[in-house]
Order: sequence, then C-alpha cells, then structure tokens
Amino acid sequence: MEKTLLIVKPDGIQKRIIGEIISRFEKRNLRISAIRMLRVDTELAHRLYDIHKGKPFFDELVDFITSGDVVAMVIEGDNVISLVRKMIGATDPMQAEPGTIRGDYALEIGRNTVHASDSQERAAYEIGLFFKEVPKV
Ligand code: RTP
Ligand code: MG
Repeated sequence: MEKTLLIVKPDGIQKRIIGEIISRFEKRNLRISAIRMLRVDTELAHRLYDIHKGKPFFDELVDFITSGDVVAMVIEGDNVISLVRKMIGATDPMQAEPGTIRGDYALEIGRNTVHASDSQERAAYEIGLFFKEVPKV
C-alpha cells in the first residue's frame, strides 16, 4: 500500500472545490487517511519546494502557496502516487486532459489547483512536512 501527499492550493480553496477534489479520490475507492487545513508559512514552502530552488519560478511558487489557506491530505492505495498524478493532470493546465483536476478547473501553470507527490521518496518527505507525529497525551 502506497501513500501520497495531495495539497489543494489556495486557488482551489477560493474556487470552493475542496469537496469536489476529495470526492474524486473517494469515488476512485482511494482512502483519505489524514487531512488538515493550514496556512503554509515561508519556511514550510521552502521545504516543500526545495527541489525548485534556483529555478526562475521559485519565488512565485513560494508567494502563491503562502498566499492563502491550503488543505493537505494523505491518500492511500495501491500505486496511489502515479494514479493521483494521472488524476491531477499535466503541470500546465493548458496541456492537462479534460477529466483531470487541472484539466477541469485550472488555466494557469502558477495556479494549477493541486500539488501531488511524484515519487515514493518525495511522498515520505512531504507527508513528514505536513503530518508530523503528534505526541500522545
Ligand atoms: P506540483 O509539484 O505542484 O504537484 O506540480 P508538478 O509536479 O506537476 O510540477 P513541478 O515541476 O513540481 O512544479 C511545481 C509547480 O511549479 C509551478 N511551475 N511553474 N512557470 C513555470 O514554468 C512553472 N513550472 C512549474 C507549477 O505551479 C507547478 O505545479
Ligand atoms: Mg512537483
């Protein structure tokens, strides 16, 4: 069983489609095993996007993900990492197929509605950023 991190970005929250997005994964029979709404701060944004440091769009990326609340969730299932990537569609919404989340709801690459982990290594790292162990009381 694999796990992946899915984030509904600030434009997805503004468009009021959190439920629609969760629904797509549930209808596919995937399990949401953790979920939270939060405002990403600059430090967390830098950790999430560490692999993009130095790229021309890095500052825009950080500005956007910190611009409003996001919803982060862990989705579980067999081969869920590649399945969720297929369901979100191409990075550039203009290239994303209709029927994918980006292909149905987004138009701009910088406001492409969702983030999803792209490998097992990144999934473990990104889930750790958003869902640290809560100490037992
Ligand atoms: P994500 O990490 O958000 O799931 O998206 P992705 O894997 O499909 O794309 P990635 O290459 O990881 O890029 C991260 C985010 O950076 C923005 N981007 N802008 N202006 C540009 O050329 C450009 N390229 C990428 C996108 O918002 C992308 O989701
Ligand atoms: Mg990525």
